[in-house]
Amino acid sequence: MPCTVIAGAFWGDEGKGKIISYLALKDKLDVCVRTGSVNAAHTVWYKGNRYALHMVPATFVYEKCRLLIGAGSNIEVKQLLEEVELTNVKNRIGIDSQASIIEEKHAMQDKASAHLKQVVGTTGRGVGPAIEERVRRTAKLAKDIPELQPYLTDVATEVNTAIDAGKKVLLEGTQGLLLSLFHGTYPYVTGRDTIASAICSEAGVGPTKIDNVLVVFKSFMTRVGTGPLPGELTKEEALKCGWFETAAGTGRDRRCAPFNFELARKAVAINGATQAAVTKLDVLYPNCRGARTYDEFPREAEHFIKEIEKQTGIPVVLIGTGPDALDIIDRRK
Ligand code: IMP
Ligand code: MG
Repeated sequence: MPCTVIAGAFWGDEGKGKIISYLALKDKLDVCVRTGSVNAAHTVWYKGNRYALHMVPATFVYEKCRLLIGAGSNIEVKQLLEEVELTNVKNRIGIDSQASIIEEKHAMQDKASAHLKQVVGTTGRGVGPAIEERVRRTAKLAKDIPELQPYLTDVATEVNTAIDAGKKVLLEGTQGLLLSLFHGTYPYVTGRDTIASAICSEAGVGPTKIDNVLVVFKSFMTRVGTGPLPGELTKEEALKCGWFETAAGTGRDRRCAPFNFELARKAVAINGATQAAVTKLDVLYPNCRGARTYDEFPREAEHFIKEIEKQTGIPVVLIGTGPDALDIIDRRK
């Protein structure tokens, strides 16, 4: 997997953090660039600890991986420094000098806007207003912040050098297709494009450098905030079938619905996906919990995976069967 992009298929929270942490450990990734911002939380369970990361790349679990935050990202300095401390990655994290800064006023603007709060259902972390500030060309950048000086780097140069040297590189997308500012369910979307090509753009990697686009599906769909969700269940139904979740970032209830093949095909098309991962198969089929080989897999679960492959035309190479980074069936050659 020389250079792989990971993108979410639906409304984020597909379990990208788990897939990314698995790949870091299994493939011994050399470099990871996280894109997006603090509104997204990537959950990683490793060695009995749970991390909900808003800034630090989810590949931190592999201690030799260089961790980068791209020029397209928006940095919340306090959150970043806390996570750097928590994950103990001071000596291997790099932040692009041109990443922009989320200031306190931006979070206040999110919270003060009735439109963003009630209509869009913002996470309230100030990401949209910080992007507006950047577009007006009045934003503070990482290079302007004294606490960030030790970490500053040129991410695009680092990552392209790594790719050219044949290193194993991963571009970590945040959120999912249907939250994309351009391709999602506007206006119920986040403030940026979230698809694979936008992830490349934020990191500074050209499309010819990408070998794999891995799209991550969850075995059912969830969405926090407002906006359409085809096939939505009531909270009662969600609780009954075990699909009810709360958001890792904000603690809000996640709305949920059954897997939608039409949306899955759209996610594969727009991301140009070459491979898929499906997470939380154990929630749909409890008898596959903790399975790590395809032989132990129940028939009905196998049928579901085959149906996804048939309808999307791409192989499902990774299947999540439990919360730990290593609870995965890996079907790659
Ligand atoms: P904002 O990007 O924080 O303004 O939020 C806009 C919309 O995107 C809201 O519906 C949020 O719930 C949703 N959203 C933003 N980031 C994430 C994420 O990482 N996971 C899930 N939903 C998100
Ligand atoms: Mg999340």
